[in-house]
Amino acid sequence: MLTAMGQKLFPYFTIPFCLMLFLSPLILPLVSSQLNYNFYDYSCPRLSNMVRYFVWSALKNDTRIAASLLRLHFHDCFVNGCDGSVLLDDSKDGSEKNAFPNRQSLRGFEVIDNIKADVERFCPSTVSCADILTLAASEAVYQVGGPNWRVPLGRRDGTTANEMDANTQLPSPVEPLQNITAKFISKGLDLKDLVVLSGGHTIGFAQCFTFKGRLFDFKGSGKPDPSLDPSSLSNLQSKCPNRDASNRNLAPLDSSTDRFDNAYYTNLKSNTGLLESDQALMGDPQTAAMVNFYSTMNQYYFYNDFSASMVKLGNVGVLTGQNGQIRKKCGAVN
Ligand code: HEM
Ligand SMILES: *[C@@H]1O[C@H](CO)[C@@H](O)[C@H](O)[C@H]1NC(C)=O
Ligand SMILES: *[C@@H]1O[C@H](CO)[C@@H](O)[C@H](O)[C@H]1NC(C)=O
Repeated sequence: MLTAMGQKLFPYFTIPFCLMLFLSPLILPLVSSQLNYNFYDYSCPRLSNMVRYFVWSALKNDTRIAASLLRLHFHDCFVNGCDGSVLLDDSKDGSEKNAFPNRQSLRGFEVIDNIKADVERFCPSTVSCADILTLAASEAVYQVGGPNWRVPLGRRDGTTANEMDANTQLPSPVEPLQNITAKFISKGLDLKDLVVLSGGHTIGFAQCFTFKGRLFDFKGSGKPDPSLDPSSLSNLQSKCPNRDASNRNLAPLDSSTDRFDNAYYTNLKSNTGLLESDQALMGDPQTAAMVNFYSTMNQYYFYNDFSASMVKLGNVGVLTGQNGQIRKKCGAVN
């Protein structure tokens, strides 16, 4: 639906676009990023088809991969900007893959590597890993029933990664809403982006250790988190018995984990949010009002706002022009 609208608008867009080129020295400082929709139209015209095919084929094997690709993009953008730094196996400042929020947790690297290998065959040294990851995340959301937004392109790949920043700047599921909000603000994202992008938890899974603190001894009380719905609690306690051996068991982040819908928000309203940080959105009147909105309104409102916030996320700290490089392999700098 959104693409159809975008395509319809496109012809009308060309004239103002010529004007914009003409006025660009005046306008450029006002636009939020130097990315654009047509960046690879001539240099790699089949790029989006390649990404679409590889995401489709990965999804056929593993429905969870959509969630994993979305999260991989988010974790890329939150550390050093959307520059593919999360994909680097090593750097002088360590590897983000190795940081606590990522280690034994991030998935989907092979999918990106496979797309990159194919793209390099047809368009060598042309398309950044950061753009491939952004496109793959968007395509993944669309293929599991989510919105289809146009992705601004032209990111370049960073030449460093930062393990310490990944440890300190990525949000933790057990830190207070205020702290998470501050982390989003520091990336140029606001409270609405936080609520909307948290809706990404409408797909995918979390390992028991990320929410087990709620199940048996919540903050040293000797009791479970009182804000967790009782039948959800007993279900999660059986999935995640109070032993370390259960730490890596999986629980779905929402009640329709393979489908990109607004169930995440209805779950929060019925106190069945999985992570402490998810349920915390109900603990503040401003965020609770937004949760209420997305859960009761037609799903279209969530889709529309999610698309807009994803474009904002995809603009965080991007490298463009002559900055950075186009990596030949996503795991290493050239
Ligand atoms: C607001 C702060 C956030 C916190 C504290 C948080 C935390 C987490 C945690 C702890 C997991 C489970 C990881 C594991 O067990 O291995 C997870 C999974 C996930 N997160 Fe978030 N997250 C946040 C925001 C986001 C955002 C903004 C997005 C994307 C727009 C996102 C997308 C996902 C997805 C899709 C998964 C499932 C991944 C999979 O199944 O492979 N999260 N998140
Ligand atoms: C299929 O998915 C599993 C994870 O569920 C993964 O380990 C495996 O490598 C995937 N196979 C292919 C061919 O992508
Ligand atoms: C939240 O942020 C405050 C102020 O920066 C900090 O002192 C506190 O340790 C943080 N809490 C958690 C749980 O990270």
